[in-house]
Amino acid sequence: MVLLLGHTGYVGSEFARELGRRGIPFEGLSRRTFDYSNFERLYGRLRERRPTFLINAAGSTGKPNVDACEAAPADTLAGNTLLPQTIAHACAAAEVPWGHVSSGCIYTGARIRQLDGSFEIEPELMTRPEIRSIVENDSDRVAGFRETDEPNFSFRRRPCSFYSGSKALGEEAICGLGRSYLWRLRIPFNERDNARNYLSRVQRYARVYENANSISHLGDYVRACLDLWDIRAPFGIYNVTNPGFVTTRQVIGAIERELRPGRRFEFWSGDAEFYRVAAKTPGRIASWTRASCWGRAWSYAGWKMPWQMLCGAGFRSRHDSSPVAGAIVVG
Ligand SMILES: NC(=O)c1ccc[n+]([C@@H]2O[C@H](COP(=O)([O-])OP(=O)(O)OC[C@H]3O[C@@H](n4cnc5c(N)ncnc54)[C@H](OP(=O)(O)O)[C@@H]3O)[C@@H](O)[C@H]2O)c1
Repeated sequence: MVLLLGHTGYVGSEFARELGRRGIPFEGLSRRTFDYSNFERLYGRLRERRPTFLINAAGSTGKPNVDACEAAPADTLAGNTLLPQTIAHACAAAEVPWGHVSSGCIYTGARIRQLDGSFEIEPELMTRPEIRSIVENDSDRVAGFRETDEPNFSFRRRPCSFYSGSKALGEEAICGLGRSYLWRLRIPFNERDNARNYLSRVQRYARVYENANSISHLGDYVRACLDLWDIRAPFGIYNVTNPGFVTTRQVIGAIERELRPGRRFEFWSGDAEFYRVAAKTPGRIASWTRASCWGRAWSYAGWKMPWQMLCGAGFRSRHDSSPVAGAIVVG
């Protein structure tokens, strides 16, 4: 039996669906009926039910979106940092292996291949014209972050959003404790209209922000996560995104071509306008001491993105088996 935390949420409900599809018995826990953030209670449940695996799809993502986390730091830390830490301790004590839904938002930018073949991290992909040109015209020079790369959008590497900082800190809090997977998800999308679905979100924005990102098809993501457990892949960190990356313009272009939404999409004229008008600035954050603690690096590159779902043409689909196939390109 699998214990599933956060089964009521966008990601958790996909885990519930896939577990059901696979005929794997599971019990979903919701805070409404069971306080799984309480160590004693969670540990007791683990001892009582003896699950073979636990999935943590619970976390604080802010409503209506992650910007709201800036104004709710306590809840954000409780959901994204303290909760995984509590689960890690309870699972370690009860000797239950588990998987944690983490996020690629702990990175910003990408690794850009230089002329001498080395890679340099470029945190801003669309502001500097020469970098933007590489992203738009020379995508083979753009590589995603690897599992071993230190997060560069975290409380240790500010500025960062409070949400991203809390997720990166959550990873640190569970690192080295017990047997766990850290499955990093980046910009989920799928076929179902939902406020968390990237394709739905983009279509609802009055104006959109141009960037380049990795994306994770939610169904692919969940299948890949469960497959990792199923094949008993080594515990550790996995960047579970579809191969390659997309720019917002490519996504909008495909939507306009295929869905003919009857509206014109407008872009923010630049970062300055976007950050001035639309985005919240990160709150002031106390200084944290530095620690480095990373799990085993492992990429999961054997699955394919249903590009046709995103309306086909215009997207790159790279299926290589290099360690950067689970690339994260964030902004
Ligand atoms: N959506 C994304 O774009 C995205 C991208 C990357 C990573 N993630 C990660 O995926 C996980 C799930 O995200 P989601 O999009 O499925 O979020 P969601 O729809 O809001 O669901 C999260 C669930 O977590 C539970 N929860 C536990 N503690 C919470 C807290 N302090 N505040 C709010 N909810 C809490 C709630 O379930 P109960 O109240 O029923 O227990 C809630 O239904 C999070 O860890 C998030 O960081 C999400």
